[in-house]
Amino acid sequence: MKIMVVGGGGREHAIIKKIKENSKVEKIYALPGNGGIAADAECVAIGATELDRIADFAKSNAIDYAIVAPDDPLVAGCVDRLEAIGIPCFGPRANAAIIEGSKVFSKNLMKKYGIPTAKYEVFTDMDSALKYLETAPIPTVIKADGLALGKGVIIALTREEAKLAVISMMRDKQFGASGDQIVIEEFLEGPEVSVLSFTDGKTVVPMVSSMDHKRAGDGDTGLNTGGMGTVAPNPYYTDAVAKRCMEEIFLPTINAMNKEGRTFKGCLYFGLMITKDGPKVIEYNCRFGDPETQVVLPLLESDLLEIMMATTEGRLSETEVSFSDKHACCVIMASEGYPVKYEKGYEIVTDDDTWKHLYVAGAKLVPEAEAKQGTDGGSASFNAKRKLNTEDVRAWKEHTVGEGMALVNSGGRVLGVTAVADSLKDAVDSAYALTKKVYFANEYCRFDIGQRALAAYGRK
Ligand code: AMP
Ligand code: GLY
Repeated sequence: MKIMVVGGGGREHAIIKKIKENSKVEKIYALPGNGGIAADAECVAIGATELDRIADFAKSNAIDYAIVAPDDPLVAGCVDRLEAIGIPCFGPRANAAIIEGSKVFSKNLMKKYGIPTAKYEVFTDMDSALKYLETAPIPTVIKADGLALGKGVIIALTREEAKLAVISMMRDKQFGASGDQIVIEEFLEGPEVSVLSFTDGKTVVPMVSSMDHKRAGDGDTGLNTGGMGTVAPNPYYTDAVAKRCMEEIFLPTINAMNKEGRTFKGCLYFGLMITKDGPKVIEYNCRFGDPETQVVLPLLESDLLEIMMATTEGRLSETEVSFSDKHACCVIMASEGYPVKYEKGYEIVTDDDTWKHLYVAGAKLVPEAEAKQGTDGGSASFNAKRKLNTEDVRAWKEHTVGEGMALVNSGGRVLGVTAVADSLKDAVDSAYALTKKVYFANEYCRFDIGQRALAAYGRK
């Protein structure tokens, strides 16, 4: 089979590595992929939102099955476009992807169908929003309606901050048209749990739960990011919580979408908060989470491509989906300065053994002469510091990067390092040990990924 994966981050790399395990897969194209994905798939220079070019490529290359991973092409109708030319796809159509594409839609859906979530008000004009904030309970949460690269949510601890957030979204259009409508909602407290699920619109099969670490700094300080690391499973997602989620959230959501004529097929991501009143939905995503996928898929024991195709064809209830009872930890190695301002172009080096544990998020291939080495010395000294064996690095470069080329960082999040072990402690320790076998100048990571989960296990 010829498979096309739309997207080019760590999540897509994890999906590609997993579907490669299926012996029916002859060829995988990644649009656009990235310099790391290039070792596992053929990267094609077509952007994930270039729907015309994606459809043309799929048709002229006789693609058998497509996987659309990121939110923006899903919300823009990439699946609809591909289905219209007869290409089966994993992912929701636009009319279902709206569950992530519009917060107003998803909040109204939850209200209409009694799905537990934070209380909220919707505003389409700034003056009413500002007036409401005069008396709203504080802290409060301000959300831009549309997609905003994960940055459209402001937790306002003071009335002043809340007002500034509203002004920047609605008057200054910080997130463009995404801020034409906003949601102001109740601030909820409790541990957060991410649950990705497969659904064909009839059956919903939750994957192993996970915990993201969204803030840039240790101890959950600093700016919000796309995610600095994940662990799975999440200790707060107990069997009792899972049962309530299935009854009160997962099935009601699938049924609600069917009743609205918006059957959801694909991966539905439930962002949950376990409050003292029970689990509540913080957000829905219409896709695999990043970097949740980098801990969830390594624990999947069944065949990912089979499950995806069963999802598309509506036979999920007959398909085996099983997860190992091990633990996984993914530490994101980012560029210093992320998520604000960071330098790109530094050469990344590692070895073959470590490479198996890496999911590349933001790196590209350039001629060796163009790669920057950083100011703290040449790569030889880094290798020594990192206990990287020069011979091993050379072998990896030969196998993975190609002669005369270098893999350099090209994004804020550069790569995820994932380890799987029998205990969470071992998974965390191994992931951090592996980060020491990867080097690029100006690298940055959090040092406390998994600590909150470990503490939660300790309390039980
Ligand atoms: P989102 O972009 O919707 O994932 O929101 C980003 C983060 O904001 C979430 O992961 C939560 O930590 C936080 N958040 C969102 N909504 C609320 C809420 N109603 N109460 C407390 N925290 C929230
Ligand atoms: N890690 C959160 C997300 O993928 O949206």
